[in-house]
Amino acid sequence: MFSFLVSLSCATIISDYCVGDLSQPDGPAGYPCKDPAKVTVDDFVYSGLRVAASSANPFKFGANNATVTQFPGLNGMDISITRADLDVGGVVPLHTHRVAELIIIIQGTVIGGFIDTKNTAYYKTLSKGDIMIFPPTLLHFQINVGSTPVLAYATFASENPGFQAVDLALFRSSLPSELIEKVTLLDDAQINKLKKLLGGTN
Ligand SMILES: *[C@@H]1O[C@H](CO)[C@@H](O)[C@H](O)[C@H]1NC(C)=O
Repeated sequence: MFSFLVSLSCATIISDYCVGDLSQPDGPAGYPCKDPAKVTVDDFVYSGLRVAASSANPFKFGANNATVTQFPGLNGMDISITRADLDVGGVVPLHTHRVAELIIIIQGTVIGGFIDTKNTAYYKTLSKGDIMIFPPTLLHFQINVGSTPVLAYATFASENPGFQAVDLALFRSSLPSELIEKVTLLDDAQINKLKKLLGGTN
């Protein structure tokens, strides 16, 4: 209990920073702090976003993430960032996070959109330099509608924002097709087609 309180206060109140010690278990207050005597400037710099993640998938979309897992300096900071590269025709499929997301378009043209809890859809074509906010937990997406690849960065109000995509939850999980039919009203042929494409079982 004492060490939990120490790590909680360390992560949020009494310290300038709490670089995550990823060799310890993660908890509701984040990771315990790395020994401050061993912290260097390199704990506050991450160069992994210089390159795109692979977009060799059905959505033609690569996400290169700098969350606390890749960049322990984010521990306790309530912020993280992802580099998103969308091929021509690429899509970030309908998905959600635990926290708000702010994107900035660096290159290309994107339709960004979200759907609120009243089922109102908000979507707009975004160009280089535009930013858009996606409220916490609401389903949202991005579509490359231009004739060039898209580079965008998405920042999150958490060092561990989570990611859940509707298509992957349905068609890359082990939820049996009979149950997917019931909870979506989709027909069996469509479900099987998407399970084959995305790797779902049962
Ligand atoms: C980045 O995060 C997303 C969402 O969790 C995941 O689908 C993707 O594979 C991650 N990218 C890499 C390169 O691990």
